[in-house]
Amino acid sequence: MPTRRPLIAGNWKMNGRLKDLAWVETFAEAVSADNCDVLVCPPAILLHAFAGAFQGQGISLGAQDCSPEPDGAYTGDISARMLKDIGCTHVIVGHSERRDGHGETDALVRRKAEAALNEGLTPILCVGEHLQEREDGRAVGAVLAQLAASLPDADATRLVIAYEPVWAIGTGRSAGPDEAQEMHAAIRAAWPGADGAQLRILYGGSVKPDNVEALMACADIDGALVGGASLDPASFARLVNLSS
Ligand code: 13P
Repeated sequence: MPTRRPLIAGNWKMNGRLKDLAWVETFAEAVSADNCDVLVCPPAILLHAFAGAFQGQGISLGAQDCSPEPDGAYTGDISARMLKDIGCTHVIVGHSERRDGHGETDALVRRKAEAALNEGLTPILCVGEHLQEREDGRAVGAVLAQLAASLPDADATRLVIAYEPVWAIGTGRSAGPDEAQEMHAAIRAAWPGADGAQLRILYGGSVKPDNVEALMACADIDGALVGGASLDPASFARLVNLSS
């Protein structure tokens, strides 16, 4: 049974200012876990400012989105190549706030993941069902269909999957450990390669210091993608400490 090192990732979404460089110091003072990977994804405009500060503290730098194109006339877009150049190691693709808020299709998400892989970045590919799908008993089918349609062709060690039920994001209503574990096990079982045991699958959706331990105790939950609770450095440090 391969051991999958936990990964706790913070997604700041559209939050943060230059003055929040102080976040790094407060986090570093409070964090004590050393057997857990830590990744933070600030807004694109802050990536450069935070790159150096994170490096000194062993925090990996991630972006929240990338273009499917390598370069060119795409006003306002940022390529995976640019993210790599600035020091990113990871990029989130297919977050529901982009799928639902910006009309991103599975096919586009797949192209973005491929663009990231082409530049040597690790895509964090997000999938998750809407409330109606869960209430109708279609959650597993919906997520596996979304995954199959947006998954690039890659070894399990080259990407990360984040299961984020849409109804749990920013609502304070996390999936229960049993619900999350069921979905994570289904995702792992559906992995097309022979290396599914190495795939890191994160849970996201209202993860807080008070529920992270129960989630992390589940066999197929390998970490968390944390929104709101990653904005407060002390809270994020507590979350990391409780996850390792
Ligand atoms: P919250 O932790 O704020 O619910 O956000 C989860 C999320 O969308 C992380 O990508």
